[in-house]
Amino acid sequence: MKKHIYILTTITTSVLLSFCGNNNTPNKSASGKEIYERTCSVCHGLDGKGNISGAAYLYKSKLTIDACIEVIKNGKGNMPGNLLTNESDINAVAEYIQTLRTE
Ligand code: HEC
Repeated sequence: MKKHIYILTTITTSVLLSFCGNNNTPNKSASGKEIYERTCSVCHGLDGKGNISGAAYLYKSKLTIDACIEVIKNGKGNMPGNLLTNESDINAVAEYIQTLRTE
């Protein structure tokens, strides 16, 4: 009987641990799309066609990816420059906005 309880406890513990394991996976960095939708779409629109407070139309932007990174880091006109501070977030979002270009 004792043995059964021991086995049951072991199984329960490992099941619980595996649940915890899922939460412990290292902070998966958000995708460029997620960051864009959270941080940029308020002005630029989900499809890059928004121009709230004079935002440039990203769907027809001609800037190079490096120039986009500059704008994201330093801001421009009405666009604040401190929206993102994490380098990999900035790169991910700069790559994502290239995919919004349709012109
Ligand atoms: C508060 C509104 C606002 C938010 C939020 C915002 N932008 Fe902007 N964005 C602007 C405005 C306004 C301009 C135009 C600046 C100018 O040329 O005077 C602009 C310009 C740009 C440009 C230059 C495009 C071009 O062709 O000149 C890029 C790239 C850009 N934004 C990317 C982003 C990204 C990426 C985010 C999210 C991290 C973001 N913006 C968030 C308002 C915003």
